[in-house]
Amino acid sequence: MKVLGINFGGRNMKCGEIMVKEALFAAKKAGADVEFVRTVNMRIDHCSGCGVCSMKRDEGGNVHCIKKDDYARLEEKILDADGIIVAAPVFSVGTTGQMKNFIDRFGAAHDRAALDEIQKKRIAEGKTGDELLDPRYFKKRYVAYMSIGGADTPHWVALGLPTMTMFGTSIYMKVVGQIDAYGQGRRANPVFDEELMGKCSELGKRVAEAVGKPYEEVEWYGEEGVCPVCHGKVMMMDQAPEVYCATCGVKGTMTLEDGRMKICYQDEDLKVSRVRMEGLYDHYWEIEGMKEVCIPKIMENQEWLEEQLKKYKNFDETIAAMEE
Ligand SMILES: Cc1cc2nc3c(=O)[nH]c(=O)nc-3n(C[C@H](O)[C@H](O)[C@H](O)COP(=O)(O)O)c2cc1C
Repeated sequence: MKVLGINFGGRNMKCGEIMVKEALFAAKKAGADVEFVRTVNMRIDHCSGCGVCSMKRDEGGNVHCIKKDDYARLEEKILDADGIIVAAPVFSVGTTGQMKNFIDRFGAAHDRAALDEIQKKRIAEGKTGDELLDPRYFKKRYVAYMSIGGADTPHWVALGLPTMTMFGTSIYMKVVGQIDAYGQGRRANPVFDEELMGKCSELGKRVAEAVGKPYEEVEWYGEEGVCPVCHGKVMMMDQAPEVYCATCGVKGTMTLEDGRMKICYQDEDLKVSRVRMEGLYDHYWEIEGMKEVCIPKIMENQEWLEEQLKKYKNFDETIAAMEE
């Protein structure tokens, strides 16, 4: 059993590193082989949206990003791991740019609903061994998040955990728990906070103990939040009284009870959380539906479209002509 600790935070021995290592000590005691990765010196460039990663996957290979940097090294370690503990500081209210870069490149291409559908198709075509997708895409994997913030006020870290959670969402990792460790500025060092270090240790133990368990049997470790599925605290108001969990997409309805706001959830809406396969499939079919509409639309209007797009392609010339 391999438990990997990753810190997307600052240099040697910063808060996130200490907290992840504390969790790894507990995972080791619970019988795991552990490894720690510090990403600060890794080059993980941003996703340019070229689509080659999923094209390779759809055309008979595995997911493969063509950018030449340290991304693939980290991707390999994640695919090999059974359990993962990830920490990241909050920068500008959300997770770090480096972690977001990683998520953008790892997430969409490893969408579990797409991978399941492609694998089914290859099996139906009689493909075997290396002709199938990498089996590591389908293994049960357990993850825990630690968001580290300097500020004492929780709204200054509001998007830390919600943005981190996308790390394991698309490939369908089971979230064992999370710690919203804000207020680190005043603490000076997390080791001064015995309670916090205890939580890190417990989370590490829980990740190791979760490995191999059916996902439904893994008990949540962390604050309850307001979303009954992912335990997130951030809700998006779209067309009030409807609200959506920003982390996992579950829909709720706001009501007032004795002057207090309450959110009610319907059972069928809880199923389409994106931390569940139903939610991932919901989005997969949404994308497939878009392709069915867009491809014929573009093919049928190719000449007209090219004509329409000329002024955007030749932006500088168009602007110059407007100035004449
Ligand atoms: C560029 C930058 C932006 C930051 N933005 C926030 C913020 O919005 N909210 C917050 O609570 N802390 C913020 N911080 C403070 C860090 O989250 C804090 O120092 C944290 O302890 C860093 O984690 P580390 O010690 O593991 O590197 C910011 C720090 C930096 C460098």
